[in-house]
Amino acid sequence: MLSMKFVVTLTLVIVTILGCVIDGYNCRIVQFIFGDSLSDVGNNEQLPKSLAKANLPWYGIDFGNGLPNGRFTNGRTVSDIIGDDMGLPRPPAFLDPNLDEDTILNNGVNYASGGGGILNETGGYFIQRLCMYKQIELFQGTQELIARKIGKNESRKFFEEARYVVALGSNDFINNYLMPVYSDSWKYNDNSFMDYLVGTLRDQLKILHGLGARKLMVFGLGPMGCIPLQRVLSTSGECQDKTNKLAKQFNEATDKMMQELSTSLTDATYKFGDAFDVVDDVIKNPNRYGFTNSDSPCCSFGRIRPALTCVPASILCKDRSKYVFWDEYHPSDSANMIIAKELIKKFKFTRVNQDDNGDGSPSPAPALGPAADAPSGVADAPSAADGPSGADAPSASS
Ligand SMILES: *[C@@H]1O[C@H](CO)[C@@H](O)[C@H](O)[C@H]1NC(C)=O
Ligand SMILES: *[C@@H]1O[C@H](CO)[C@@H](O)[C@H](O)[C@H]1NC(C)=O
Repeated sequence: MLSMKFVVTLTLVIVTILGCVIDGYNCRIVQFIFGDSLSDVGNNEQLPKSLAKANLPWYGIDFGNGLPNGRFTNGRTVSDIIGDDMGLPRPPAFLDPNLDEDTILNNGVNYASGGGGILNETGGYFIQRLCMYKQIELFQGTQELIARKIGKNESRKFFEEARYVVALGSNDFINNYLMPVYSDSWKYNDNSFMDYLVGTLRDQLKILHGLGARKLMVFGLGPMGCIPLQRVLSTSGECQDKTNKLAKQFNEATDKMMQELSTSLTDATYKFGDAFDVVDDVIKNPNRYGFTNSDSPCCSFGRIRPALTCVPASILCKDRSKYVFWDEYHPSDSANMIIAKELIKKFKFTRVNQDDNGDGSPSPAPALGPAADAPSGVADAPSAADGPSGADAPSASS
């Protein structure tokens, strides 16, 4: 009895594992996201000392149940929208307490952290945030976990088939180079800082390639000199041209660097895309895109500006879909939609066709769990009905 049960269970286990090996984890192509607050889906919420959090109303008001969910916007992030469009599941935050191997195999992981930058020193005054090197370290830990679960070879395949998103850089300017409290602002000039920043990103992308990342996209920067915070800091209320120029320069340099990497790294499809021009046009001609406001945050603390974050006592604009900016730093869901559309057009990635839950449904898919549980239940049933196996019970309890 016992041996038969063992055989049945073993067969099912083999079928399950081989099923995934044969399909090369075709069962699941997932994504791994590295980024800052524009892509954070809850990591900072779990960092007890972080000063950059989206854990208060009215963040998330247009997402799911309307409660704060860790996203620094009212609705979806650009990565949410692009991932949905590609047919990929939405990866949970790395620091989500429910994250386990099955969740990772089915949904990937998001390491993005508000305040984080390409450079370690960026965003220091938020006290706690995950910088890019830290996010890569955590990704390595994820890989070790998965290798222990499914074996080294299968793990390698799983990570080589996954999609990668790298979306940071604005904090390296807004919360580093452009702020006199950071030493980078006086150690570097525009050109030397750009070399340092893009060179560091290049090193990081090469590390990711060494870890198996083959299909990777880097999102460029938008006109960050036009975020409400930057406008309010200028006396005229206009966009800060110097800041916008830096964003453009970063985009050009990163695009060039990515083209070089894509040809020099084995099997690498590394793409760069930015939505600078479209967002710039939206900001200059909001009406053309269905917006009524492109210079102030929808969520603001009355006339007290800048309010560094959206808080429960804030006043919301009447129609959130008509504001380009949600808070002082971050675009609204409607603006993210326009940014995502532009990036999809530029990246030209084809939709990933997956069966079951690969429809971009935001809810985590418990695929391995029930699938593995059901067969063992079936194997148990006959033994319970057989009668003789009742003899097992006393021996088990003794
Ligand atoms: C950046 O931080 C990582 C850990 O997160 C560390 O391993 C690395 O040495 C740091 N790099 C520099 C240049 O300080
Ligand atoms: C893993 O792959 C290597 C090289 O392709 C092969 O020699 C080895 O037998 C594989 N290991 C397992 C456990 O399949």
